[in-house]
Amino acid sequence: MNLKDLYINYFVSKGHKQIPSAPVVPENDPSVLFNTAGMQPLIPYLMGQKHPYGTRLCDYQKCIRTNDLEAIGDSYHHTFFEMLGNWSLGDYFKDESIEMSFEFLTKILNIPVERLAVTVFAGNDTIPFDEVSFNKWKSLGIPEERIARTVEDNFWIAGETGPCGSDTEIFYFRSNDEIPSKFDPEDERWVEIWNNVFMEFEKHEDGTVTYLPAKNVDTGMGFERTTAILEGKTDNYASSAWTPVIDIIKEVSNLPYEGNEKSMRIIADHIRTAVFILADPAGIKPSNTDQGYILRRLIRRAIRHAKKLNIDINSNWEERIASTIMDMYEKYYQELKDNRTIVLDGLKNEKIKFNRTLEKGLREFDKVTRDNKDIDGVTAFHLFDTFGFPIELTEELAQDKGLKVDIEGYKAKFKEHQELSRTASAGKFKGGLAGSGEIETKYHTATHLLNAALKQVVGPDVHQKGSNITAERMRFDFSCDHKLSDEEKAKAEELVNKWIEEDIPVTVEEMNKEDAIKSGAECMFIEKYPDRVTVYSIGNISKELCGGPHVKHTGELGKFKITKEEASSAGVRRIKAVLE
Ligand code: ALA
Repeated sequence: MNLKDLYINYFVSKGHKQIPSAPVVPENDPSVLFNTAGMQPLIPYLMGQKHPYGTRLCDYQKCIRTNDLEAIGDSYHHTFFEMLGNWSLGDYFKDESIEMSFEFLTKILNIPVERLAVTVFAGNDTIPFDEVSFNKWKSLGIPEERIARTVEDNFWIAGETGPCGSDTEIFYFRSNDEIPSKFDPEDERWVEIWNNVFMEFEKHEDGTVTYLPAKNVDTGMGFERTTAILEGKTDNYASSAWTPVIDIIKEVSNLPYEGNEKSMRIIADHIRTAVFILADPAGIKPSNTDQGYILRRLIRRAIRHAKKLNIDINSNWEERIASTIMDMYEKYYQELKDNRTIVLDGLKNEKIKFNRTLEKGLREFDKVTRDNKDIDGVTAFHLFDTFGFPIELTEELAQDKGLKVDIEGYKAKFKEHQELSRTASAGKFKGGLAGSGEIETKYHTATHLLNAALKQVVGPDVHQKGSNITAERMRFDFSCDHKLSDEEKAKAEELVNKWIEEDIPVTVEEMNKEDAIKSGAECMFIEKYPDRVTVYSIGNISKELCGGPHVKHTGELGKFKITKEEASSAGVRRIKAVLE
């Protein structure tokens, strides 16, 4: 059985509810480009908001980390990975969390205790040594010399601020060497497989730390790494998590993996991440800003390495690799089924675009490096701006020739350019945690009103397909088979504004799922909701299963204005709107 299924089955058997993987582009948190950890979509709940699924949750979450792009090509770094997680929201704490992790590893995955070691928080001026975790591990049979104590590595926080706490990390001895009796976390033969964070604090912008309303547990286990371990592989790409992808790359390039590992891993990794970004409900396309720029860089770097392997770029190589990836994952991620054509078109279009300038760019590169001088920032930016060369491509080409690139100079030019073209919208990254600020709350309520208005104007078949809120605007995706006419848009806008003027109270109640559905409450994925749900009503205009938060009266919203209506994917339209 796949590790994902084993994990979910185990935690469900321990009273956890499975929650669906959130999109890779955070829906209500403009402070990060991508979800980097399983806990990110759960921040409001770790901060005290009631989760509609209860206090014990588990999932597998799509994560993307691109800060280490250069490291891709080794045996264990990936830009996209799946994180297996289980959470306690004020339910169990250290003892039970450690017991379950231990049982899952040793009884379900049958990992011998001798191969495990752990770290616990050593204690500092403000937070004492984590004696509870230490004693628990000992009682379970982990000898004292396999329990290391650290300070820096045993405190976890997603960014600068937010929920955080001390943690205990679990390591596996991945080597055929004799297992040393004393555990040294710096010894690379010990690899970290699971992190259990005991989130009881919140760190604020001024650096102060306060207690959260509840003691929570947040855990994360890397799917690819653990799969490789269970299969006895020291190269993640040689495990079943990757072999179908590597096999198709071997086929399209007609080359063996041995000797071509770096380029094959980069192609496999980058195309997989591009597939998941393109399939995301956020509808990201390659561009020169934000998520779109990351996507562009990934695709272009993959193309460059495909060229290195002498793959005919004009053949359908990228389609064959992406299709293999989607076949592998569609059982777990419905969006890959729904958006297959969008993904394949997105890759192909970017390939065509890049291919047009690639040869010219390579000639230009040869010209500017003819006298073997290092590349200055202006030249690197010119290669980007005119020939579409992402900076790491210029760097890689330079490396091949033993030259350096002035990255800082490039970044300065890039920034100047961004400011000039006003693509970086002001204050974008200042958004609050998970968008639970005042303005985001207003947009949340406006989303319910727009959903109700569209049902009246377009028809009862309109259903929400996605939503994304920042402090600047709301975005709403809904099922609809045609482009809205100007009249339809104006009518929907008028209705929402009428309801705002009427200052209708917004009410919330908790009820059984069955009753909620019978009473006509709207929801996105009925089968995924727990038995008890929260339902928000706006007078008799709207009733939706929803975790909130919402305003108290619609009058708080101000004036509602639709700024854009466009296609999102087949049968799905997208509206962008603002509150003024
Ligand atoms: N949030 C923790 C991590 O990402 C579990 O390591």
